[in-house]
Amino acid sequence: MRMNLLLTALTLAIAWPLAGGAEEAHDHAAAPPAQGVAALSQPLREALSAEMQAVQAGMIGVIPALAAGNWDEIAAIGTRIRDSYIMRQSLTPAQLEELHEALPPDFQALDARFHQDAAMLIHVAEAKKPELVGYYVGRMMEACVACHSRHATEKFPALAAQAGAEQHAH
Ligand code: HEC
Repeated sequence: MRMNLLLTALTLAIAWPLAGGAEEAHDHAAAPPAQGVAALSQPLREALSAEMQAVQAGMIGVIPALAAGNWDEIAAIGTRIRDSYIMRQSLTPAQLEELHEALPPDFQALDARFHQDAAMLIHVAEAKKPELVGYYVGRMMEACVACHSRHATEKFPALAAQAGAEQHAH
């Protein structure tokens, strides 16, 4: 009797974690957890899309402004991009938490660098330095591809191949 109880206890002790593990593995197979932007709630993802469209409109506007030496306009565009920084938008604390959890540190580092370059763009436009304006615009354009090829391949599938090629080269 004693022996039987002990055996039952042992069997349970061994079987429980196994059963739990099997269940977990099954859950993962059934529904792989969403990651990155795909894990964002709809309102947050829409806010990101809206920010991106504003960023793109700003970048397009830099060309005629630079060609005309319209430094104030370039500085204004830089300011709008810098201040559109998704982390600094008027998000609720819960949404900020959600962003930090969904978007990997790599995304946040690219985002931070992009907005630092926008701040530099304001600075060099105010200093009326066309070569440096071109330099920072170039850096900002590289950031579009760098971030999209890692974090927006659902939206831009053509850049998924790019990310793969770069990984091979490193
Ligand atoms: C730090 C990351 C990051 C940087 C830098 C970045 N983007 Fe994006 N962008 C994204 C992500 C992520 C998406 C996809 C959003 C989605 O799938 O919902 C996106 C989507 C877009 C979209 C589509 C928006 C829509 O849903 O209609 C445009 C347009 C865009 N980006 C333009 C740009 C341009 C132009 C630049 C550079 C000047 C740029 N982005 C820089 C992360 C970035």
